[in-house]
Amino acid sequence: MHTALLDAARDARLAPSILNTKPWRWETVGAALELHADPARRLPHLDPHGQLMTLSCGAALHHARLALAAAGYEPVVERRPDADHPTLLARIGLGEERPAGRECLETYRCLPLRRTDRRPFPPSARVPDATLTRLRAAAQAERAHLYVLAREDVAYLRYAAQGAHTLGAHDAEIAAELERWAGAARPAPLRDAGSGAEYLVVATDADGPDDWLRAGEATSAVWLTATACRLGASPLSEVVEVPGARALIRSLLHPPREPQLVLRVGMAAPN
Ligand SMILES: Cc1cc2nc3c(=O)[nH]c(=O)nc-3n(C[C@H](O)[C@H](O)[C@H](O)COP(=O)(O)O)c2cc1C
Repeated sequence: MHTALLDAARDARLAPSILNTKPWRWETVGAALELHADPARRLPHLDPHGQLMTLSCGAALHHARLALAAAGYEPVVERRPDADHPTLLARIGLGEERPAGRECLETYRCLPLRRTDRRPFPPSARVPDATLTRLRAAAQAERAHLYVLAREDVAYLRYAAQGAHTLGAHDAEIAAELERWAGAARPAPLRDAGSGAEYLVVATDADGPDDWLRAGEATSAVWLTATACRLGASPLSEVVEVPGARALIRSLLHPPREPQLVLRVGMAAPN
């Protein structure tokens, strides 16, 4: 096995995941690296269909692809290559040697710097339009879409998030999963009304396992680009876990697409 592939699997450990479950497993098969979802680390109540598990695996896949590209190799990826093995999400091989570009190296350097930043963002500092354009391009390069919610629509997002949060907080089985994986209940969402936060929706054309994997790759690409632009970011997944809340978010997207994850971004306070 080529060391670049092993290094890529190691770098992928830095990827974000739902409740930090890291629900993936790497296997080496011949000259290739295989990414498997690990159903033992799925959250059966919070994530009954494995959408957030697959999305988290997609983030790990993007991290591994980026690591290979930064090491000077073209990643050759087959996504969900075997219909008989749905937990096999990707097979990665090494393509041609190719020097990494400046942007690739800049994004790669953000792998250990990226983290979930749940702090409020200062109202005085708004995210520049040029940065939002760069984030949209990062999602598009992963064949996904990124919507920036209009100010007036954030009230609907807050309504959806609060409803979803209340439902989850009253569900004993979800509470048990949160206790097991996070050791605590989730904080109430969207506490930073009136702040400089922007709310982004990662969306796809359809809503199946291929789309969830792609949404994870796009989330990783957008989040690392945000880190490179010195933005803080934190996801909000309660609004996609609860069907009613998700339908409300879907109604905010023009043209309509399938919402997969909401990312809150803002100008990060210095650490
Ligand atoms: C699919 C997905 C959903 C997430 N949902 C939430 C969420 O609803 N609220 C939250 O505060 N963090 C959420 N996170 C962030 C994770 O908790 C975080 O990535 C994980 O704990 C690892 O921490 P790090 O991002 O700082 O490396 C989510 C992450 C992923 C990938």
